[in-house]
Amino acid sequence: MTASIGSISGPRRVLEVGPGTGPFTKAILRKLRAGDRFELVEINENFCKNLEKELLSGFRTRHPNVDVRLHCAPIEDAAVEGPFDVIVCGLPFNNFPPKLMRQIFRRMFALLKPEGELVYFEYAGVRVMKGPVMGRDGRARLKRIDAYGKSLRRRHAGEKELVLGNFPPAITYRLKGEHAAKAHASRNGTGKKSASTSAKAASKRARRDYRGA
Ligand SMILES: C[S@@+](CC[C@H](N)C(=O)[O-])C[C@H]1O[C@@H](n2cnc3c(N)ncnc32)[C@H](O)[C@@H]1O
Repeated sequence: MTASIGSISGPRRVLEVGPGTGPFTKAILRKLRAGDRFELVEINENFCKNLEKELLSGFRTRHPNVDVRLHCAPIEDAAVEGPFDVIVCGLPFNNFPPKLMRQIFRRMFALLKPEGELVYFEYAGVRVMKGPVMGRDGRARLKRIDAYGKSLRRRHAGEKELVLGNFPPAITYRLKGEHAAKAHASRNGTGKKSASTSAKAASKRARRDYRGA
């Protein structure tokens, strides 16, 4: 989830969305250097207090040249300003209404540098396991979430990786910002088509998939 931070040179700007109890936060803090800025957006006040007390205040004292800002607010309207090189998102989208998921991704892409990277994850097989115990509406919601994830990955040169070392096993998804997605498409020979026609087709498909959601 945090691997790409180390490969960026110069002062980095990193955003973590939904840090919760802070497992990714700890890994991010270990990678930060003087001049970097790290912002966290967490909706839950108790998690915010805990993150501040257990991780952030001590880190700020030890690393006064790293700018660390915690926003206790929903990412949809948190007072954060981009652009960020990397966004690490721990939100459990399979529990979210599809409309909120789309709103959150729109906000995150608006905050991401065109050459940046957005990473999120889900537990492997979660939709397959949840489907049978959900009603018809619940299954339709999971289907829309799955379709939206696929359309994001098509449009943003998504890469996925199964992490068996995690318990339960998880899948990480890396999405590229606008420029990085275009560069990736042209390197892979799908160049102009992926950068323009295919992006348009993907948004058309996404609109069709989510009509009425
Ligand atoms: C799966 S949990 C935490 C993940 C974290 N990696 C962990 O293991 O503790 C997701 C977190 O996102 C937060 N969250 C949910 N909706 C949010 C939103 N709209 N904006 C910001 N944070 C949100 C929750 O409060 C929760 O702490």
